Amino acid sequence: MTTRSRLSGLVALLSCLLLAAPVTAQPRHDDVAAIKAVTCAACHGASGNSRSDTMPILAGMDPAYFKKQIQDYARGLRPSPEMEPYAKQVLALGVDDIAAFFARQRMARTPVRVDPVAVARGRDAAASCAACHGADGKGDRARLVPALAGQPPGYLREQLRLLKQDRRNPGDAALAAVKAVMKSLPDERLADLAAYYSSLTP
Ligand code: HEC
Ligand code: HEC
Repeated sequence: MTTRSRLSGLVALLSCLLLAAPVTAQPRHDDVAAIKAVTCAACHGASGNSRSDTMPILAGMDPAYFKKQIQDYARGLRPSPEMEPYAKQVLALGVDDIAAFFARQRMARTPVRVDPVAVARGRDAAASCAACHGADGKGDRARLVPALAGQPPGYLREQLRLLKQDRRNPGDAALAAVKAVMKSLPDERLADLAAYYSSLTP
């Protein structure tokens, strides 16, 4: 082999390594976050895509909203005996990494079916929600208003009930306006609203 061909071989090898570096850096970073998020899958499903009616889908969630909820669970502001220990674990491992990991996952809407009649009633009742959650239920990132579209109906219904009864972030002045809307609605309407938002395309 000539010096020249040996040199060009080395150049080719080096450029391969240089080109490969940024490609491998991303998955490695992703793997670390995926390992930190592994315990979440038991309840929230693979890649945060819960297939259950009661567990929220985390895939595609806005990272700032995600972070606020983790902080609220860890401080006991949003009381949940199930989430509090995991929220503390997330804060210890680094909430920003884990929030970014779930935000990167593609959300697959809930497989739970809803009654079209309930959806129609919910659509009529949703006028008071659209100002914050948007006409399409996609939320408002700037105001930390969560997206509701495609979430499981059982989870949405339960959160509406907890908000109405002031059991989610009890006494929190920032959520007084939201809770006043829930209190003005009968419980059956909450189920209709849950069905409607669940039926929307995320
Ligand atoms: C034992 C089951 C369980 C495990 C494990 C679990 N969660 Fe949860 N998670 C829940 C339940 C139940 C709720 C809803 C609680 C409530 O009513 O507020 C929830 C809610 C959440 C929410 C709020 C979603 C929203 O739309 O407001 C976030 C964020 C979350 N979990 C993140 C995580 C992360 C991250 C992990 C892993 C470190 C994790 N969870 C592990 C059961 C679990
Ligand atoms: C004034 C703005 C506002 C209005 C009006 C409002 N919401 Fe919300 N909603 C919020 C905010 C902000 C949150 C997140 C609260 C938090 O940080 O815990 C929220 C949370 C929720 C949640 C919990 C979502 C989750 O992932 O845990 C549901 C469900 C919900 N709203 C449904 C509704 C419905 C249905 C209506 C109409 C009847 C409504 N909201 C009206 C601002 C609003």
